[in-house]
Amino acid sequence: MNDKKLIIIGLLIFFGVCSSVCWYNWLSAAEKGAPEPLLSEKAKAAGYCVVPKDKMKAEHMKILDQWREHVVRTGKREYVIPETGRTFNMSLSTGEDSCMGCHSNKSEFCDRCHDYASVKPYCWDCHLEPKEKE
Ligand code: HEC
Ligand code: HEC
Ligand code: HEC
Repeated sequence: MNDKKLIIIGLLIFFGVCSSVCWYNWLSAAEKGAPEPLLSEKAKAAGYCVVPKDKMKAEHMKILDQWREHVVRTGKREYVIPETGRTFNMSLSTGEDSCMGCHSNKSEFCDRCHDYASVKPYCWDCHLEPKEKE
């Protein structure tokens, strides 16, 4: 009877210690929260993105896909938002009005979020990353 109790206590301690690593990671991640992506000076000055921030956060991958298809199929790169008359260059990284033209601080903006979410877009195998100041 006593042996049984000891074994159970032993097992409880064993699992407690093992899972504490998970608990620790989980709790410290929750405490830190998602990192806040930093806007470049240029983005701050512009004050707008292609669509409002929350939508952008959720849908930027889809928008990039749509832009790619549109450009590759039609060869046309100008994107006009009718309500505001704002224009964008439908490009990941070419030109001032492209994503990276405005978000020129990839490491503090895109990467910060992607590293946290463990996403590694393969786009940069081919597309040029913006040159950043150290
Ligand atoms: C003219 C500059 C400009 C261009 C071009 C631009 N953005 Fe943005 N982007 C901004 C600004 C400014 C914000 C923040 C908007 C706000 O706070 O309401 C933003 C927000 C975002 C966010 C959400 C960030 C967050 O904190 O949740 C993502 C993601 C994003 N942009 C990705 C892109 C992608 C991808 C493209 C190209 C398809 C792009 N942006 C093109 C200026 C730009
Ligand atoms: C607010 C956080 C945030 C910011 C800022 C952000 N991303 Fe993302 N991005 C994500 C998340 C989260 C995913 C994964 C979403 C999913 O899988 O549904 C993602 C996915 C992507 C994908 C698709 C990757 C794949 O393999 O499917 C691309 C492309 C992408 N992001 C490009 C960019 C670019 C370019 C920027 C900077 C201009 C940027 N993102 C900024 C959060 C962000
Ligand atoms: C194997 C190489 C390769 C990879 C990987 C790649 N692309 Fe492209 N992409 C191209 C080529 C080539 C074009 C056509 C260039 C042109 O017409 O300007 C293009 C065009 C585009 C365009 C429209 C034109 C422009 O200047 O940006 C977008 C947007 C785009 N790609 C987004 C992406 C995104 C987002 C990813 C990652 C999820 C990605 N691409 C991955 C090769 C690649």
